[in-house]
Amino acid sequence: ELGYFTYDPGFMSTASCESKITYLDGDKGILEYRGYPIEQLAEESSFLETCYLLLNGELPNEKELEEFEESIRTRSMLQEQLKTFFLGFRRDAHPMATMVGVVGALSSFYHEDEDVHSQEDRMDAAHRLIAKMPTIAAWSYRYSKGMPFVYPKNSLSYSANFLHMMFSMPSEPYTVDPLMEKALDMILVLHADHEQNASTSTVRLAGSSEANPFAVIAAGIASLWGPSHGGANEAVIQMLTEINESGKPISDFIDRAKDPKDRFRLMGFGHRVYKNYDPRAKIIRKTCHEMIAENTFSNPEHKKLLETAMELEKIALEDEYFVSRNLYPNVDFYSGIIFLGMGIPLNMFTVLFALGRTVGWISQWNEMMGDPGSKIGRPRQLYTGEDKRDYVKIDKR
Ligand code: SDX
Repeated sequence: ELGYFTYDPGFMSTASCESKITYLDGDKGILEYRGYPIEQLAEESSFLETCYLLLNGELPNEKELEEFEESIRTRSMLQEQLKTFFLGFRRDAHPMATMVGVVGALSSFYHEDEDVHSQEDRMDAAHRLIAKMPTIAAWSYRYSKGMPFVYPKNSLSYSANFLHMMFSMPSEPYTVDPLMEKALDMILVLHADHEQNASTSTVRLAGSSEANPFAVIAAGIASLWGPSHGGANEAVIQMLTEINESGKPISDFIDRAKDPKDRFRLMGFGHRVYKNYDPRAKIIRKTCHEMIAENTFSNPEHKKLLETAMELEKIALEDEYFVSRNLYPNVDFYSGIIFLGMGIPLNMFTVLFALGRTVGWISQWNEMMGDPGSKIGRPRQLYTGEDKRDYVKIDKR
């Protein structure tokens, strides 16, 4: 007993706060942004409209949406000298490493956004970050492949512009596939916010010291990168590849996942909060199975990964170990497969997660900094070390 609460490792690892942005019920598998069910937003809304909703609390009318889209479109370019910043990275640097560096570096450009207590400055920073993330993400990939940077094209939609910067070549015409544009836009909506997950809590804690918003989002990107969090979508494909290349039956891996002594985990399964099916996974699973039906996965390698994924999904949904522990496939299990089918390079999967989550991070940061009562975060600990003892001279040790 610790006086006002009984020690619970789970409690000690979760910072709790109040927020009006996202409602999540892990037992019932419910997710709502500003009260709107994720199923309806994924079906009806666009990513930029969802960004407006998360940031401002209401769905925009036509004029408000047009103005918001214009503000994002006209901020998609980077300061030209930032290009040289990319050159400082090794060619084989993971694009998430580049993202952390370049987004953090934005804090050296926008001093006019410095006043974190000014709603106007905070919104300026929020629009800049939402606008520039696709450019930084695409350029991180282009740099890793030794390909020329492609500038944003403001006549394109947000998602189409990202795909244009990722895949077009200056030397030949390029048309964005409308199916890919639609799938990407929906995936960004699904990833936009998710209550107080590890990276959002990182953003809140980093921002609570009144740090610069660009540096704060760089901290969120760093936290998301881990395979237990946003890095899971990339780790899912690595796991499927490991299974296929091992030549061993899937049952061997299922047994390893059940063995407490074995660190092997089924990537893309389980969740800190959802003890029911992740509602995002349900939505994205439908898209995934539609893509299979439409034979989108032409690459035979990908088809084999897909077969393994579907076999894993079937086993996990029936096996007592997983069912009794509510280890359902999560959003990362299916997004990894869809990105594969879309031809997104593996090292960009988590970058796309960061692309979607930026608006959630910056909305939660804005909400916290807009609260006059907000203070610097200071989680406490339960001390389990040595009792007080006196110093011993080295010749007596
Ligand atoms: C995201 O927080 C968010 O909202 C995150 C996120 C977001 O949008 O921001 O939803 C995005 O991060 C989704 C999660 C992506 N990560 C993965 O897919 C990595 C694989 N999953 C695991 O690492 C794990 O499920 C966690 C980290 C996600 C959750 O771990 P917990 O909290 O330990 O899970 P739990 O308490 O429910 O575990 C119960 C049991 C334990 O075994 P026992 O002690 O009961 O014997 O299930 C086991 C766990 O060891 N378990 C797994 C497992 N996940 C949990 N066993 C095998 N494979 C797994 N994936």
